[in-house]
Amino acid sequence: MVKVLVTGANGQLGSELRKISDLFPEIEFSFTDVGELDITDPWKVADFLGIFKPRFLVNCAAYTAVDKAETDIETATLLNATAVGILAEQSAEIGCKMIHVSTDYVFNGRGPRPYKEDDPVDPQSAYGKTKLEGEVLCMKNNPEYMIIRTSWLYSAFGNNFVKTMIRLGNERDELGVIADQVGSPTNAADLAHAILTIISSVENNSKSFVPGIYHYADEGVASWYDFTKAIFEIARINCLVNPIASEDYPSPVQRPAYSVMNKSKIKLNFGLQIPHWRDSLSEYFQKKQ
Ligand SMILES: NC(=O)c1ccc[n+]([C@@H]2O[C@H](COP(=O)([O-])OP(=O)(O)OC[C@H]3O[C@@H](n4cnc5c(N)ncnc54)[C@H](OP(=O)(O)O)[C@@H]3O)[C@@H](O)[C@H]2O)c1
Repeated sequence: MVKVLVTGANGQLGSELRKISDLFPEIEFSFTDVGELDITDPWKVADFLGIFKPRFLVNCAAYTAVDKAETDIETATLLNATAVGILAEQSAEIGCKMIHVSTDYVFNGRGPRPYKEDDPVDPQSAYGKTKLEGEVLCMKNNPEYMIIRTSWLYSAFGNNFVKTMIRLGNERDELGVIADQVGSPTNAADLAHAILTIISSVENNSKSFVPGIYHYADEGVASWYDFTKAIFEIARINCLVNPIASEDYPSPVQRPAYSVMNKSKIKLNFGLQIPHWRDSLSEYFQKKQ
């Protein structure tokens, strides 16, 4: 049995990991959230790691309130950067590999083609800046690291764009949705499956653990407008969707206009097959029935 510690396990990604954990009987999991293991507390992290002695740590804990981070940069930094440094340092101490999840927001969103892992970073938001600081600390403190950047996560757990749109679509007859920001909607269940497949294949020696940054998102590209149209179509919600420009939707955060990531590296290194976002969205609704 390989021991895997999941932090931030009550969030979207952590909950999806828990949900599919039975599919990986070779893994002994410890699922923790702030109640069991506060990742900002170095003593608790050291104690927990020392007792459980995991071979992998999957960090799903984060400060993900993108707008709020602009005015609460201290807390965002503590969780997205300082705590990641603590986890990386302490996991390295016991020879535990760290899989840390990061974001497309480390890029400025002005790229001409899907972002590769080594493209220059240039975060435009407080959230993106703190996540980038976390990446740097992760790499610095644990040489046995994998950083997986993902985008536009949704899940049956927690709050997300899909749930908000379903609510609004049921309340209103008409909705304006941003059409000039594109990215790849990603079902957190797909990312959870990819992470556990990676761990499992490293453990059975069919793949090797190559430290580095990786990009993972569901296949395909959509604007928020396209995404909303697909949600309403699949969920059979009768609400007219009108495309609007980012400038017509005031926000404290400048969100990336172009958030598409190149996933060749993770697909090649780990033989992953990534579903198209539209298929995965259909599956999400099928499973909910
Ligand atoms: N959501 C997206 O669209 C998106 C896009 C790209 C990348 N990502 C990245 O993907 C990862 C997973 O995102 P997610 O959407 O699953 O996040 P999430 O739903 O916000 O989950 C984060 C979890 O961490 C917990 N947490 C907060 N403070 C903690 C602490 N001190 N110690 C331990 N746990 C703590 C949170 O608890 P509380 O809820 O009680 O605070 C929550 O359960 C994150 O690294 C995020 O930056 C997300």
